[in-house]
Amino acid sequence: MAVTLTALQVMQDAPVIPVIVLHDVAHAVPLARALVAGGIRMLEVTLRTPVALACIEAIAHDVPEAVVGAGTVRSAADAQAAALAGARFAVSPGYTPAVGRACHDLGLALLPGVATGSEIMLAQEDGYTELKFFPAVQAGGLGMLKAWQGPFGDVKFCPTGGVQPANAPEFLALANVACVGGSWLTPADAVAQGDWARLTQLAREAASLEKPR
Ligand code: 3PG
Repeated sequence: MAVTLTALQVMQDAPVIPVIVLHDVAHAVPLARALVAGGIRMLEVTLRTPVALACIEAIAHDVPEAVVGAGTVRSAADAQAAALAGARFAVSPGYTPAVGRACHDLGLALLPGVATGSEIMLAQEDGYTELKFFPAVQAGGLGMLKAWQGPFGDVKFCPTGGVQPANAPEFLALANVACVGGSWLTPADAVAQGDWARLTQLAREAASLEKPR
C-alpha cells in the first residue's frame, strides 16, 4: 500500500504538474519515464479518454519513480475508479462536497478546482486549502490571484489553464502559488510520434523554473 500523500506534497514536488491526455495505453509508460527523466514525477493523467484509467494503472505498475494522479475527476465514482487504478492524487476542474468526501474517504490527496471566492469557501469548509485555480488565465490570471491574497491568504493555488513557459514565472513568483499546471509538457504531436526525448527536454526546462519558497 502506497503512503498517503498530502495535496501540499503534490504541489511542492516540482514547479509544474503536467496535465496529460493519453489516447493510447502504449504511450503511458514511455511518456511517464520521459517526464521522470526530465525531473517531473507528479503526473496528472486526465480522465478524458477511454484509456485513461488503463494508463494510470500502467504507470502506477511500471514506473514506480513516478507518482501518478488522476485529473478531470468530476464525481465520487471517478475518484473511486482512479484510486482503484492506482492514482495517488486527484485533481478536479471544479469542487463538489461529494468529490471532496470521496477523496477523503479513499485517502486520495485532492486539488479541487476553483475559480471564485464562493468555491474557495466551499472547499475550505471541507478542509481543502490547497486548490487548483482553473481556468487560470481565462478566469482572471495573475490579478485574480493577487486579489485573493487578502481574504484567502491561507490558501495555496496551482493555477492551470493558459499557463505556458512564457507566463509560468510570473505565476510562480506569487506567494500564494505553490506550483502551476499545464499541458505544454506533453504536446499531442510529440506523444503521437513517440518523441520522448522532446518530453524529457520540456520536463527538464519545467523542472528548472524557479519557485521562490
Ligand atoms: C486542462 O484541464 O486542460 C488544463 O487546464 C490544461 O490547460 P492548458 O492546455 O491551457 O495547459
